[in-house]
Amino acid sequence: MPDPFYITTPIYYVNDVPHIGSVYTNVACDVMARFARLDGHEVKFLTGTDEHGQKVEKSAKDAGLSPQAFVDKISENFQSLIPLCKLSSDDFIRTTEERHIKGVLYLWNTLVEKGYIYLDSYKGWYSVRDEAFYGESEIKDGKAPTGAPVEWVEEPSYFFKLSAFQEKLLNYYENHPDFIGPVSRRNEVIQFVKSGLTDLSVSRTSFTWGIEVPNDPKHVIYVWLDALTNYLTALGYPEKTEDFKKFWPALHVVGKDILRFHTVYWPAFLMAADLPLPSRIFAHGFWTNEGQKMSKSLKNTIDPVALIETYGLDPVRYFLMREIPFGQDGNFSKAHLVGRLNGDLANDLGNLSQRVLSFIQKNAEGRIPSKGSLNQEDKDLMEMSSNLLSKIRPMILKDQELHRYIEEVWKVIAASNRYVDHQAPWALKKTDPERMETVLYVLCTALQKIGILLQPLLPDSSGKILDQLALPLDKRGFEDLETPLQTGVLLPPPSVIFPKFKEESV
Ligand code: MSP
Repeated sequence: MPDPFYITTPIYYVNDVPHIGSVYTNVACDVMARFARLDGHEVKFLTGTDEHGQKVEKSAKDAGLSPQAFVDKISENFQSLIPLCKLSSDDFIRTTEERHIKGVLYLWNTLVEKGYIYLDSYKGWYSVRDEAFYGESEIKDGKAPTGAPVEWVEEPSYFFKLSAFQEKLLNYYENHPDFIGPVSRRNEVIQFVKSGLTDLSVSRTSFTWGIEVPNDPKHVIYVWLDALTNYLTALGYPEKTEDFKKFWPALHVVGKDILRFHTVYWPAFLMAADLPLPSRIFAHGFWTNEGQKMSKSLKNTIDPVALIETYGLDPVRYFLMREIPFGQDGNFSKAHLVGRLNGDLANDLGNLSQRVLSFIQKNAEGRIPSKGSLNQEDKDLMEMSSNLLSKIRPMILKDQELHRYIEEVWKVIAASNRYVDHQAPWALKKTDPERMETVLYVLCTALQKIGILLQPLLPDSSGKILDQLALPLDKRGFEDLETPLQTGVLLPPPSVIFPKFKEESV
């Protein structure tokens, strides 16, 4: 039995409606979670909302609502992404939930007991947008390195002895080369930690929307210490639950902007509390919109709901995962999305299944054909599709190279299309009907593997391909990749899986 697999998205700030960035991480994690399940792992896929802190408090005030009423409302928008994007998440955690607050207080008390928290006062820069403290040397032209505005803060504050973890963290990175991915991000983090860690302010007193510090209610716990703990509280921490024992540690997938919190602060908190560290933290890149940085003030954020309504869910999932190598930055362009929908999906994949299955309907009694003896070309295609799983498994579960997984499947789609052209079953129909059956059988087998392996990425359309192959629902797991199709099974009439997108229908 493969190891249990625990994967998390960041929990989203509820200061605003979801945008393409939120959908991006969600879909990427969903692809990995679905893949792991089909591959026999027991999976826990967690997402949720980050509901405390100054930023959320301010947004609630601007909206004229109490913070609680505001977060209840906005959190729903994020929960509605689950059916919209067909996310196979197993839990949705909100940091205002009792189960979470209880765990955060427990972690806080543990850090106090172990001597890692002390009271002092903070004097320095704070960015509400990033919910982050910045050192003097990081401020450029009066702004945070992220470009966010900063304000000068002077207030009593509890500190976490982050400086005590500099060497321990560096040793850990050294001994666990896969802890942070991609490698370029790992190097960045190592540089940052080598440049010196100062103690971290972990409480605020200038607002109240947060979890109160035990025995000192003037302070609320710093929103990042609160938020990061969600990965544990969703497993029932501090209770040593079955889930905790089974699933911790996790693979955390995050955007590159929140790398420092996940690879420096979070492991240090866990080390301080004597808890095992995450198995891996993978940071993906950022999307721009038609070449421009996306921001609320530029009014150019992309609404995922409208996007999915216009192009359909699977094309959007496909585009997000294929357009840019996972881990790198990239650009969102409608023209490219339409290009990929009409090219990769409609022409390559859709056309392959359509031409094979309609040909079978018309010329092979609409049944799974029979397999005669195989020539070298048949064997080559069969072998190519049979080798896919072992090739793509590490790409997804180990390296998070989701784009490479897709490229590998598309190589088989392209090879299958070339095979149809070359074998020309329409000509064989007259000259060698038996050979025609074999060619069609080989193609159905390729479609079976392509359909099964694309389920994590394209849950709807791959389901349709497999329906059209009359593959029973209990024969769609990876363990059935090599189960031969049964000659003679009646196939339903095929229908178009990816209709071409015409501009005027926008
Ligand atoms: N609340 C924190 C995370 C706490 S996790 C313990 C947070 N929330 S966020 O809502 O601001 O961001 C959520 C995710 O969206 C981050 O991983 C961020 O990188 C991602 N994205 C935000 N804008 C993005 C793009 N333009 N492109 C890709 N991802 C982006 O940070």
